[in-house]
Amino acid sequence: MVRVAVLGAAGGIGQPLSLLIKLNKDVTALHMYDIVRCPGVAADISHINTNSTVSAFQGNDSLKDCLTGMDIVVIPAGVPRKPGMTRDDLFGVNAGIVRDLIQAVSDNCPKALVCIISNPVNSTVPIAAEILKKNGVYDPKRLFGVSTLDIVRASRFVRDIRPSFDASTQIPVIGGHSGNTIVPILSHIQNLVNLSEDEIKTVTHRIQFGGDEVVQAKNGEGSATLSMAYAGYRFVSSLISAINGQPATECCYVDLSVDPAGAEYYRQLGASDLAFFSVNTSIGPDGITSILPLASISSFEKELVKAAVSPITSNIAAGVSFVNK
Ligand code: NAD
Ligand code: LMR
Repeated sequence: MVRVAVLGAAGGIGQPLSLLIKLNKDVTALHMYDIVRCPGVAADISHINTNSTVSAFQGNDSLKDCLTGMDIVVIPAGVPRKPGMTRDDLFGVNAGIVRDLIQAVSDNCPKALVCIISNPVNSTVPIAAEILKKNGVYDPKRLFGVSTLDIVRASRFVRDIRPSFDASTQIPVIGGHSGNTIVPILSHIQNLVNLSEDEIKTVTHRIQFGGDEVVQAKNGEGSATLSMAYAGYRFVSSLISAINGQPATECCYVDLSVDPAGAEYYRQLGASDLAFFSVNTSIGPDGITSILPLASISSFEKELVKAAVSPITSNIAAGVSFVNK
Protein backbone atom coordinates (compact mmCIF):
# COMPACT_ATOMS: atom_id res chain seq x y z
CA MET A 1 0.00 0.00 0.00
CA VAL A 2 2.61 2.55 -1.03
CA ARG A 3 1.94 5.76 -2.97
CA VAL A 4 4.78 7.16 -5.05
CA ALA A 5 5.16 10.49 -6.87
CA VAL A 6 7.78 11.06 -9.57
CA LEU A 7 8.58 14.73 -10.24
CA GLY A 8 10.16 15.13 -13.68
CA ALA A 9 8.26 12.01 -14.76
CA ALA A 10 8.21 12.77 -18.49
CA GLY A 11 12.01 13.03 -18.77
CA GLY A 12 14.73 10.63 -19.82
CA ILE A 13 14.95 9.13 -16.32
CA GLY A 14 11.38 9.86 -15.26
CA GLN A 15 9.73 7.75 -17.96
CA PRO A 16 11.57 4.43 -17.46
CA LEU A 17 11.67 4.97 -13.68
CA SER A 18 7.89 5.44 -13.65
CA LEU A 19 7.53 2.32 -15.79
CA LEU A 20 9.54 0.26 -13.27
CA ILE A 21 7.57 1.69 -10.32
CA LYS A 22 4.34 0.78 -12.13
CA LEU A 23 5.50 -2.84 -12.19
CA ASN A 24 5.95 -2.97 -8.39
CA LYS A 25 3.01 -4.87 -6.87
CA ASP A 26 3.26 -3.00 -3.56
CA VAL A 27 2.55 0.36 -5.19
CA THR A 28 -1.11 1.42 -5.12
CA ALA A 29 -0.83 4.88 -6.70
CA LEU A 30 1.75 6.36 -9.05
CA HIS A 31 1.57 10.14 -9.50
CA MET A 32 3.53 11.45 -12.46
CA TYR A 33 4.36 15.17 -12.48
CA ASP A 34 6.18 17.25 -15.08
CA ILE A 35 5.94 20.65 -16.72
CA VAL A 36 5.55 19.08 -20.20
CA ARG A 37 4.40 15.84 -21.91
CA CYS A 38 2.98 14.33 -18.74
CA PRO A 39 -0.59 13.40 -19.76
CA GLY A 40 0.59 11.35 -22.73
CA VAL A 41 3.34 9.52 -20.87
CA ALA A 42 1.07 8.77 -17.90
CA ALA A 43 -1.79 7.58 -20.15
CA ASP A 44 0.62 5.19 -21.83
CA ILE A 45 1.97 3.73 -18.56
CA SER A 46 -1.53 3.58 -17.05
CA HIS A 47 -2.54 0.77 -19.43
CA ILE A 48 -0.09 -1.70 -17.88
CA ASN A 49 -2.10 -4.31 -16.00
CA THR A 50 -0.73 -4.00 -12.49
CA ASN A 51 -3.10 -2.93 -9.71
CA SER A 52 -1.77 0.59 -9.14
CA THR A 53 -3.53 3.60 -10.58
CA VAL A 54 -1.53 6.15 -12.55
CA SER A 55 -2.37 9.87 -12.54
CA ALA A 56 -0.85 12.70 -14.56
CA PHE A 57 -0.12 16.14 -13.12
CA GLN A 58 1.24 18.95 -15.25
CA GLY A 59 2.28 22.42 -14.18
CA ASN A 60 2.71 24.13 -10.85
CA ASP A 61 -0.99 24.37 -10.02
CA SER A 62 -1.29 20.58 -9.96
CA LEU A 63 1.58 19.97 -7.51
CA LYS A 64 -0.69 20.05 -4.44
CA ASP A 65 -2.94 17.29 -5.78
CA CYS A 66 0.06 15.35 -7.01
CA LEU A 67 1.84 15.36 -3.64
CA THR A 68 -0.93 15.10 -1.08
CA GLY A 69 -0.89 11.66 0.58
CA MET A 70 2.35 10.47 -1.03
CA ASP A 71 4.63 8.09 0.92
CA ILE A 72 7.62 8.45 -1.41
CA VAL A 73 8.60 11.37 -3.67
CA VAL A 74 11.32 10.80 -6.27
CA ILE A 75 12.83 13.85 -8.00
CA PRO A 76 14.65 13.43 -11.32
CA ALA A 77 13.50 16.89 -12.54
CA GLY A 78 16.08 19.16 -14.10
CA VAL A 79 18.57 19.50 -16.91
CA PRO A 80 21.24 16.87 -17.68
CA ARG A 81 24.87 17.46 -18.68
CA LYS A 82 26.29 17.89 -22.17
CA PRO A 83 29.90 16.98 -23.09
CA GLY A 84 32.40 19.33 -21.44
CA MET A 85 30.12 20.16 -18.51
CA THR A 86 30.54 19.14 -14.88
CA ARG A 87 27.58 18.33 -12.67
CA ASP A 88 28.23 21.61 -10.85
CA ASP A 89 27.52 23.44 -14.13
CA LEU A 90 23.88 22.29 -13.72
CA PHE A 91 23.52 24.11 -10.42
CA GLY A 92 22.32 27.37 -12.01
CA VAL A 93 19.17 25.72 -13.39
CA ASN A 94 18.59 22.71 -11.15
CA ALA A 95 19.04 24.42 -7.77
CA GLY A 96 15.90 26.50 -8.33
CA ILE A 97 13.93 23.54 -9.67
CA VAL A 98 14.73 21.42 -6.61
CA ARG A 99 14.08 24.35 -4.23
CA ASP A 100 10.60 24.90 -5.67
CA LEU A 101 9.66 21.22 -5.75
CA ILE A 102 10.82 20.73 -2.15
CA GLN A 103 8.79 23.76 -1.11
CA ALA A 104 5.76 21.92 -2.51
CA VAL A 105 6.78 18.74 -0.67
CA SER A 106 7.04 20.77 2.58
CA ASP A 107 3.55 22.14 2.02
CA ASN A 108 1.80 18.96 0.96
CA CYS A 109 3.58 15.78 2.11
CA PRO A 110 6.25 16.66 4.69
CA LYS A 111 6.32 13.08 6.02
CA ALA A 112 7.17 11.53 2.66
CA LEU A 113 10.50 9.80 2.04
CA VAL A 114 12.19 12.10 -0.50
CA CYS A 115 14.74 10.83 -3.02
CA ILE A 116 16.80 13.42 -4.89
CA ILE A 117 18.24 12.37 -8.25
CA SER A 118 18.65 15.85 -9.81
CA ASN A 119 22.29 16.94 -10.12
CA PRO A 120 24.48 18.18 -8.62
CA VAL A 121 23.31 15.79 -5.87
CA ASN A 122 26.09 16.99 -3.53
CA SER A 123 24.36 20.40 -3.53
CA THR A 124 20.70 19.67 -4.32
CA VAL A 125 20.30 17.51 -1.18
CA PRO A 126 21.56 20.32 1.11
CA ILE A 127 19.20 22.69 -0.76
CA ALA A 128 16.31 20.34 -0.02
CA ALA A 129 17.33 20.13 3.65
CA GLU A 130 17.48 23.93 3.99
CA ILE A 131 14.03 24.38 2.46
CA LEU A 132 12.53 21.71 4.73
CA LYS A 133 14.22 23.38 7.73
CA LYS A 134 12.86 26.79 6.77
CA ASN A 135 9.39 25.26 6.75
CA GLY A 136 9.92 23.59 10.13
CA VAL A 137 9.36 20.10 8.71
CA TYR A 138 12.91 18.78 8.30
CA ASP A 139 13.42 15.18 9.32
CA PRO A 140 16.87 14.05 8.11
CA LYS A 141 15.75 10.40 8.29
CA ARG A 142 13.49 11.06 5.32
CA LEU A 143 15.83 12.77 2.87
CA PHE A 144 18.09 10.77 0.52
CA GLY A 145 20.51 11.71 -2.24
CA VAL A 146 20.38 8.82 -4.71
CA SER A 147 23.92 7.62 -5.48
CA THR A 148 22.87 4.06 -6.36
CA LEU A 149 24.13 4.39 -9.94
CA ASP A 150 27.69 4.53 -8.61
CA ILE A 151 27.07 1.25 -6.78
CA VAL A 152 25.53 -0.32 -9.88
CA ARG A 153 28.51 0.79 -11.98
CA ALA A 154 31.03 -0.46 -9.41
CA SER A 155 29.81 -4.07 -9.67
CA ARG A 156 29.45 -3.95 -13.43
CA PHE A 157 32.89 -2.42 -14.04
CA VAL A 158 34.58 -4.98 -11.79
CA ARG A 159 32.82 -7.72 -13.74
CA ASP A 160 34.32 -6.22 -16.93
CA ILE A 161 37.82 -7.05 -15.68
CA ARG A 162 36.94 -10.21 -13.67
CA PRO A 163 34.42 -12.26 -15.69
CA SER A 164 34.01 -14.70 -12.78
CA PHE A 165 32.71 -11.91 -10.49
CA ASP A 166 28.93 -11.93 -9.94
CA ALA A 167 27.79 -8.48 -11.12
CA SER A 168 24.88 -8.52 -8.66
CA THR A 169 27.32 -8.41 -5.70
CA GLN A 170 26.99 -5.03 -3.98
CA ILE A 171 30.08 -2.88 -3.52
CA PRO A 172 29.66 0.04 -1.11
CA VAL A 173 30.33 3.48 -2.59
CA ILE A 174 30.65 6.38 -0.16
CA GLY A 175 31.45 10.11 -0.37
CA GLY A 176 29.42 12.12 -2.86
CA HIS A 177 28.12 11.82 -6.41
CA SER A 178 30.62 13.57 -8.70
CA GLY A 179 34.11 12.75 -9.95
CA ASN A 180 36.61 12.32 -7.16
CA THR A 181 33.96 12.66 -4.46
CA ILE A 182 32.79 9.15 -5.47
CA VAL A 183 34.68 6.66 -3.28
CA PRO A 184 34.16 2.98 -4.19
CA ILE A 185 35.14 0.54 -1.46
CA LEU A 186 36.58 -2.25 -3.58
CA SER A 187 38.32 -3.73 -0.56
CA HIS A 188 34.92 -5.29 0.25
CA ILE A 189 35.31 -7.70 -2.63
CA GLN A 190 39.10 -8.08 -2.72
CA ASN A 191 38.87 -11.63 -1.36
CA LEU A 192 36.67 -12.53 -4.37
CA VAL A 193 38.58 -10.75 -7.13
CA ASN A 194 42.15 -10.17 -5.94
CA LEU A 195 42.65 -6.98 -7.97
CA SER A 196 46.19 -5.66 -8.46
CA GLU A 197 47.02 -2.15 -7.29
CA ASP A 198 46.88 -0.89 -10.88
CA GLU A 199 43.53 -2.58 -11.48
CA ILE A 200 42.12 -0.99 -8.32
CA LYS A 201 43.25 2.45 -9.48
CA THR A 202 41.89 1.97 -13.00
CA VAL A 203 38.48 0.63 -11.99
CA THR A 204 38.13 3.24 -9.22
CA HIS A 205 38.74 6.00 -11.76
CA ARG A 206 36.23 4.43 -14.14
CA ILE A 207 33.55 4.32 -11.42
CA GLN A 208 34.29 7.93 -10.45
CA PHE A 209 33.96 9.14 -14.04
CA GLY A 210 31.47 6.58 -15.38
CA GLY A 211 28.87 9.31 -15.91
CA ASP A 212 31.23 11.01 -18.40
CA GLU A 213 31.33 7.85 -20.55
CA VAL A 214 27.57 8.09 -21.10
CA VAL A 215 27.56 11.89 -21.56
CA GLN A 216 30.25 11.57 -24.25
CA ALA A 217 28.59 8.60 -25.97
CA LYS A 218 25.24 10.45 -26.07
CA ASN A 219 27.11 13.39 -27.59
CA GLY A 220 24.85 16.24 -26.52
CA GLU A 221 21.67 14.19 -26.05
CA GLY A 222 21.95 14.06 -22.26
CA SER A 223 23.36 11.73 -19.64
CA ALA A 224 22.55 8.32 -18.15
CA THR A 225 18.81 7.70 -18.17
CA LEU A 226 18.15 3.95 -18.46
CA SER A 227 20.86 2.77 -16.06
CA MET A 228 19.78 5.61 -13.74
CA ALA A 229 16.15 4.52 -13.93
CA TYR A 230 17.28 0.99 -12.99
CA ALA A 231 19.42 2.33 -10.13
CA GLY A 232 16.73 4.75 -8.96
CA TYR A 233 14.16 1.99 -9.00
CA ARG A 234 16.46 -0.27 -7.00
CA PHE A 235 16.65 2.44 -4.36
CA VAL A 236 12.91 3.19 -4.42
CA SER A 237 12.05 -0.51 -4.21
CA SER A 238 14.24 -0.74 -1.08
CA LEU A 239 12.19 2.10 0.43
CA ILE A 240 8.95 0.38 -0.56
CA SER A 241 10.13 -2.83 1.13
CA ALA A 242 11.21 -0.85 4.20
CA ILE A 243 7.79 0.82 4.43
CA ASN A 244 6.29 -2.67 4.28
CA GLY A 245 8.38 -3.84 7.23
CA GLN A 246 11.44 -5.30 5.51
CA PRO A 247 14.46 -3.15 6.55
CA ALA A 248 16.89 -2.26 3.76
CA THR A 249 20.60 -1.48 3.67
CA GLU A 250 21.65 1.15 1.12
CA CYS A 251 24.52 3.56 0.56
CA CYS A 252 23.10 7.04 -0.04
CA TYR A 253 24.00 10.72 0.43
CA VAL A 254 22.50 11.79 3.74
CA ASP A 255 22.65 14.32 6.55
CA LEU A 256 25.14 12.81 8.99
CA SER A 257 23.26 14.32 11.94
CA VAL A 258 20.67 11.59 11.39
CA ASP A 259 22.81 9.25 13.51
CA PRO A 260 25.75 11.06 15.17
CA ALA A 261 27.09 7.86 16.76
CA GLY A 262 27.02 5.96 13.45
CA ALA A 263 28.46 8.96 11.59
CA GLU A 264 31.47 8.98 13.90
CA TYR A 265 32.96 6.04 11.96
CA TYR A 266 32.98 8.15 8.75
CA ARG A 267 34.21 11.24 10.59
CA GLN A 268 37.18 9.20 11.82
CA LEU A 269 37.88 8.20 8.22
CA GLY A 270 38.25 11.87 7.28
CA ALA A 271 34.69 13.07 6.68
CA SER A 272 35.49 15.42 9.60
CA ASP A 273 32.91 18.20 9.91
CA LEU A 274 30.92 17.45 6.77
CA ALA A 275 27.16 17.80 7.13
CA PHE A 276 26.36 15.44 4.23
CA PHE A 277 28.15 12.34 3.01
CA SER A 278 27.19 9.17 1.23
CA VAL A 279 27.31 6.38 3.79
CA ASN A 280 25.99 2.90 4.35
CA THR A 281 22.57 3.15 6.02
CA SER A 282 19.89 0.97 7.46
CA ILE A 283 16.40 2.05 6.39
CA GLY A 284 13.08 1.28 8.06
CA PRO A 285 9.47 2.39 7.50
CA ASP A 286 10.17 5.96 8.64
CA GLY A 287 13.47 6.34 6.84
CA ILE A 288 17.04 5.98 8.06
CA THR A 289 17.32 4.06 11.31
CA SER A 290 21.13 4.09 11.55
CA ILE A 291 24.38 4.81 9.79
CA LEU A 292 26.39 1.62 9.45
CA PRO A 293 30.17 1.26 9.41
CA LEU A 294 31.98 -0.45 6.55
CA ALA A 295 33.32 -3.98 7.04
CA SER A 296 36.75 -2.86 5.80
CA ILE A 297 38.54 0.03 4.11
CA SER A 298 42.05 0.17 2.63
CA SER A 299 44.60 2.94 3.06
CA PHE A 300 44.10 3.83 -0.65
CA GLU A 301 40.35 4.26 -0.01
CA LYS A 302 41.04 6.37 3.09
CA GLU A 303 43.09 8.71 0.90
CA LEU A 304 40.17 8.93 -1.53
CA VAL A 305 37.87 9.92 1.34
CA LYS A 306 40.28 12.71 2.29
CA ALA A 307 40.35 14.00 -1.30
CA ALA A 308 36.52 14.02 -1.41
CA VAL A 309 36.10 16.25 1.64
CA SER A 310 37.06 19.61 0.14
CA PRO A 311 34.83 19.43 -2.99
CA ILE A 312 31.87 18.14 -0.96
CA THR A 313 32.36 20.95 1.57
CA SER A 314 32.15 23.52 -1.27
CA ASN A 315 29.14 21.76 -2.83
CA ILE A 316 27.27 21.80 0.48
CA ALA A 317 28.16 25.46 1.11
CA ALA A 318 26.89 26.40 -2.37
CA GLY A 319 23.55 24.71 -1.69
CA VAL A 320 23.10 26.23 1.75
CA SER A 321 23.98 29.75 0.61
CA PHE A 322 21.69 29.46 -2.43
CA VAL A 323 18.72 28.99 -0.11
CA ASN A 324 19.78 31.53 2.51
CA LYS A 325 21.04 34.32 0.25
P1 NAD B 1 15.64 15.15 -18.98
O1 NAD B 1 15.88 16.51 -19.51
O2 NAD B 1 15.50 14.03 -19.95
O3 NAD B 1 14.36 15.13 -18.05
C1 NAD B 1 14.19 16.07 -17.05
C2 NAD B 1 12.72 16.32 -16.90
O4 NAD B 1 12.54 17.28 -15.86
C3 NAD B 1 12.05 16.90 -18.17
O5 NAD B 1 10.92 16.12 -18.52
C4 NAD B 1 11.64 18.29 -17.74
O6 NAD B 1 10.44 18.74 -18.35
C5 NAD B 1 11.47 18.10 -16.25
N1 NAD B 1 11.46 19.34 -15.49
C6 NAD B 1 12.17 20.48 -15.71
N2 NAD B 1 11.82 21.41 -14.82
C7 NAD B 1 10.88 20.86 -14.02
C8 NAD B 1 10.14 21.31 -12.92
N3 NAD B 1 10.27 22.55 -12.45
N4 NAD B 1 9.26 20.47 -12.35
C9 NAD B 1 9.11 19.21 -12.81
N5 NAD B 1 9.78 18.73 -13.86
C10 NAD B 1 10.65 19.54 -14.45
O7 NAD B 1 16.84 14.84 -17.96
P2 NAD B 1 17.24 13.42 -17.32
O8 NAD B 1 18.23 12.75 -18.20
O9 NAD B 1 16.01 12.70 -16.92
O10 NAD B 1 18.05 13.90 -16.02
C11 NAD B 1 17.39 14.57 -14.98
C12 NAD B 1 18.37 14.93 -13.87
O11 NAD B 1 18.91 13.75 -13.26
C13 NAD B 1 19.58 15.72 -14.34
O12 NAD B 1 19.86 16.75 -13.43
C14 NAD B 1 20.71 14.70 -14.33
O13 NAD B 1 21.97 15.29 -14.17
C15 NAD B 1 20.33 13.89 -13.13
N6 NAD B 1 20.93 12.55 -13.04
C16 NAD B 1 21.32 12.12 -11.81
C17 NAD B 1 21.86 10.87 -11.65
C18 NAD B 1 22.26 10.38 -10.29
O14 NAD B 1 22.99 9.39 -10.20
N7 NAD B 1 21.80 10.97 -9.21
C19 NAD B 1 22.05 10.04 -12.77
C20 NAD B 1 21.65 10.50 -14.01
C21 NAD B 1 21.09 11.78 -14.15
C1 LMR C 1 25.69 9.95 -13.79
O1 LMR C 1 26.49 9.63 -12.92
O2 LMR C 1 25.54 9.28 -14.84
C2 LMR C 1 24.82 11.14 -13.57
O3 LMR C 1 25.20 11.86 -12.45
C3 LMR C 1 24.67 12.00 -14.79
C4 LMR C 1 25.93 12.72 -15.18
O4 LMR C 1 25.86 13.93 -15.36
O5 LMR C 1 26.97 12.08 -15.33
